[in-house]
Amino acid sequence: MLLLAYRRVGQPSPKVVRRKSVSSTQDVARALPIGSIVVADHQTAGRGRLDRTWESPPRTALLVSFVLPPNPILSLAAGVAAAEACGGGVRLKWPNDLLLGGGKVGGVLVEATPDKAVCGIGINLTWAPRGAARLNQGRNQLLEKLRIEVNRWASAPADDVLARWRELSDTLGRRVRVEQSGTAIEGTAEDIGPLGELIVDGRPVTYGSVIHL
Ligand code: BTN
Repeated sequence: MLLLAYRRVGQPSPKVVRRKSVSSTQDVARALPIGSIVVADHQTAGRGRLDRTWESPPRTALLVSFVLPPNPILSLAAGVAAAEACGGGVRLKWPNDLLLGGGKVGGVLVEATPDKAVCGIGINLTWAPRGAARLNQGRNQLLEKLRIEVNRWASAPADDVLARWRELSDTLGRRVRVEQSGTAIEGTAEDIGPLGELIVDGRPVTYGSVIHL
């Protein structure tokens, strides 16, 4: 109790910026200090990994960016945090897609500079693109759970993040195809390495789009 009281006094509460419409929460967050959080009802130019777009009608998804200290495994930590916040059987596809019943329900995009990392998380709630999944939880409740889990996992020891990622993984143990610019690697996803790289038939894969075969 004393500790909790001390932490409330000792740690300023994060600045939460709420917007109706933004290009991307990442763009707004980039200009803010560590500890800031940006939430929007709608994005006109939401983006995903590998130069993809991220689209959802207004107020149908949780669209949030956290400004955090740099961390080499932040994208895995954020995936773990998001899966924990969602609960209910949400699993992780490498590196950090959130899957529900095999369909993509959310994703994580980390954009880092040497002094800070902007960690964007999008979760489909009342709408999903064809073939994807939605979570059907209240946005504000989910945001509160996510704030707690992001705080916890973004500062957790790397070994704890990797261990929990392995437990939540839907990728490890499967045959996979990893598509990279112009090439593809097929094999068994055996493990993740210390920096979150996917080990496919003994070879580390650091980026790409994974298909579960
Ligand atoms: C992916 O699956 O490729 C990552 C998707 C990340 C989407 C979120 S929504 C909030 C934040 N703002 C963005 O423009 N992208 C991330």
